Amino acid sequence: MKVVTVVGARPQFVKMAPVSRVLRGYFDEIVIHTGQHYDYEMNRVFFEQLNIPEPDYYLGVGSGTHGYQTGEMLKRIEGVLVKEKPDLVLVYGDTNSTLAGALAAVKLHIKVAHVEAGLRSFDRRMPEEVNRVLTDHVSDYLFAPTETAVKNLHNEGIKEGVYLTGDVMYDALLYNIEIARKNSKILKELGLRPKSYLLATVHRAENTDDKDRLESIVSAFVESGEEIVFPVHPRTVKFLRVYGLYEGLERADNVILTKPVGYLDMLMLEKNAKKILTDSGGVQKEAYFLKVPCITLRERTEWVETVEDGWNVLVGADKEKILRAVREFEPSGETYTYKFGDGRASEKIAEVIKNVDR
Ligand code: UD1
Ligand code: UDP
Repeated sequence: MKVVTVVGARPQFVKMAPVSRVLRGYFDEIVIHTGQHYDYEMNRVFFEQLNIPEPDYYLGVGSGTHGYQTGEMLKRIEGVLVKEKPDLVLVYGDTNSTLAGALAAVKLHIKVAHVEAGLRSFDRRMPEEVNRVLTDHVSDYLFAPTETAVKNLHNEGIKEGVYLTGDVMYDALLYNIEIARKNSKILKELGLRPKSYLLATVHRAENTDDKDRLESIVSAFVESGEEIVFPVHPRTVKFLRVYGLYEGLERADNVILTKPVGYLDMLMLEKNAKKILTDSGGVQKEAYFLKVPCITLRERTEWVETVEDGWNVLVGADKEKILRAVREFEPSGETYTYKFGDGRASEKIAEVIKNVDR
């Protein structure tokens, strides 16, 4: 059995790490890295910290418009698949690298497996939603992290090849949290005391590409008066500069701007935060796993369990709502992490892949 894994963006490195560790006990895995993310702190640091095998093919596609980026990936992935002739192509999540990997494979009649299938925000203006829907509809094996995801697939008529496995990001977190506690020095480096600061990340297109929304979000950070650690995604740096917002943020006494941090440092920043403000999919889940209240800077989320259980509140980009949540939001219940599996999603995925017809 020969499996080709296609990844390219930060969250995919986190997701593939536990799966790859298990898969390699059974099969040959060939890794294609599209090059969607390429800065050291968006890319290499994850390979180093999570012991992910070096990519066999680095396609170097880089940044560009959706059409350019997805199209270049499609062409270059196809070339590798024609040469390698795998039995299965494995893709993760909802980025342009996910869609390009799935499309390249299905057109060559190679089976596609999608990890994190069935997630829906029901907002087609989000590029991630388009990528997810299309990828799910061409996949042969759909690894759903939650029951909600299974239901979403059923509602779209996808019933065959759906497996409820649990969430691989939960596997990754459980595996790495102790390693992070022992190795990360980030709290000391930034002079932070546990539970005395907020952690923020912002990078989704609906927030960065809209000046009013981004301005409203960062004004809330500054006006909150709380100490806020803000590791800034390169997309966000670019737009903050374009809108003339970067310097004001840099000058704000309560905001600590940093480059994106490595996964182990991120886990420690999350675990010790009083609250987390984010528009990231992965960070919302990690907040829930770590029992940290999460304020989500979006109108919708695909991780509905975190909201239903009272640990996550959706505030969009509304400054007043953000400030109120910073002051007042308190979780109302427990976290029921079993909704995201038992930390062995990767094993369940490997078990299915082992039995794929060749
Ligand atoms: C992508 C995903 C998004 C995911 C995010 C994770 C798509 C459509 N979007 O968004 O779903 O949540 O990754 O982080 O696939 N840049 C750099 N250095 C890098 C990477 C990017 O400077 O290493 C800058 C470039 O200016 C680039 C911009 O960030 O144009 C956006 O990068 P891109 O990969 O297109 O999308 P993300 O916003 O990262
Ligand atoms: N992450 C990280 N450093 C950061 C920001 C995020 O290690 O500075 C990790 C985070 O812990 C999670 C993953 O990156 O595991 C989430 O990726 P991201 O927020 O880029 O994308 P999304 O989940 O929104 O697609």
